[in-house]
Amino acid sequence: MEKLVIEGGRSLYGSVAISGAKNAALPLIAATLLAPGTHVLRNVPDLRDTRTILSLIGELGAVWSREGSTLFIDCSDISYCEVSYDLVKTMRASVLVLGPLLSRLGRAKVSLPGGCAIGERPINFHINGFEKLGVTCNLEHGYVEAIRGDKLKGNTIYFDFPSVTGTENLLMAAVRAEGTTILKNAAREPEIGNLIDMLVNMGADIEGRGSDQITIHGVSRLRSSETDIIPDRIETGTYLIAVAAAGGDTKLTNCEPKHLPALLGKLSEAGAEISIEQSSISIRMDPEKRDGLTGVDIKTMVYPGYPTDLQAQFMALMTLSSGICLIKETIFENRFMHVGELRRMGARIQTEGHSAVVTGCGPAGLSGARVMATDLRASSSLVVAGLAASGRTEISRIYHLERGYENLVSKLGGLGARVWKENE
Ligand code: EPZ
Repeated sequence: MEKLVIEGGRSLYGSVAISGAKNAALPLIAATLLAPGTHVLRNVPDLRDTRTILSLIGELGAVWSREGSTLFIDCSDISYCEVSYDLVKTMRASVLVLGPLLSRLGRAKVSLPGGCAIGERPINFHINGFEKLGVTCNLEHGYVEAIRGDKLKGNTIYFDFPSVTGTENLLMAAVRAEGTTILKNAAREPEIGNLIDMLVNMGADIEGRGSDQITIHGVSRLRSSETDIIPDRIETGTYLIAVAAAGGDTKLTNCEPKHLPALLGKLSEAGAEISIEQSSISIRMDPEKRDGLTGVDIKTMVYPGYPTDLQAQFMALMTLSSGICLIKETIFENRFMHVGELRRMGARIQTEGHSAVVTGCGPAGLSGARVMATDLRASSSLVVAGLAASGRTEISRIYHLERGYENLVSKLGGLGARVWKENE
């Protein structure tokens, strides 16, 4: 296994291009299963997770090729409808093929995703929604076997919680259902808008993009389409937080500022200088003035609130502040796995249930250490801490990082960081 080594204490200057969004690429790749023909997806990041879902749809009969960041996916011959435990256990987003397979083939057998480091991660909202559309779901031997009658029937589905992939799965199941489906209390994350754009490009009839009520009028046919993946707002946020932590002056290009309303406000409140243009964000934090970094409370919420996927990274930043802050995680039940590792670097963090109180130890407060990645975003918080810490930090199990950050070493290196990979 490989580890990431960071010689900390260097400020970050220059420009970095943001990649396409992992959490848009996954549902949009799954959506290609809905229609025969060759689909084109542009700005697709090359990540462990996108490679996983591409091999998954390949097992179902899709034929794909990549030219740079453009994917060509031919789904003319989709005949197989079973997804193995081995694939789902590596990436729970594999469940996103359930909706398209039910729509295209009328049945699907997908291993139930186990829990993961951040929580139990059930899919009951997905299953309840499918059953509302007339699907029979049998759960046995760790699999969900879903079978529809002759056609999926439109219905009104209310989400107890605005589940992101739950909304995406039901959108994909409903586009060719008979009649109208209304999704209530649906998730509003930008990745869902990207999926709706693709489905409409394919001929779907959908109202309510961007709202928590989405109406889908079933159509009889869908066609292949060409769609651009939106910029990755979580990668964008991670680099912004890294510059605020290490100091510097950096411009992030190919990004979408309007997808990060909560984070940009919090970084300004903490003392970073932010300026935005059409598709770029510049952030400046004078290395000599980082003792002016103030403690800022955050509470994770569904979009457009503060994103749970940027909670761990912001906590790393707050350990360097000259104040105290309260961080509340309301989305997942176990998303403080990074706390123990940050403490090993000198952070002062007290946790109580889903809340953490961070007592900042100032910009020179962290020292490099050997730490372990536990999940995707916890590992990126250790990178943020390592960049700001004095001395050398070694992060093991970096396959977690490679799931969601394209070309991380070269992007950080391009900003002046001293970071490289070594074998454990
Ligand atoms: C998506 O996960 C993202 N993944 C996650 O990003 C992100 O953290 C999450 O949304 C919240 O924004 C992808 O888009 C591939 P949820 P998802 O369904 O859809 C509970 C990353 O780091 N729930 O919105 O799985 C669930 O347990 C990943 O990129 C049920 O109880 O999240 C959680 O507490 C991590 N039953 C809450 O709802 C269900 O059927 C939110 O989950 C579904 C969810």
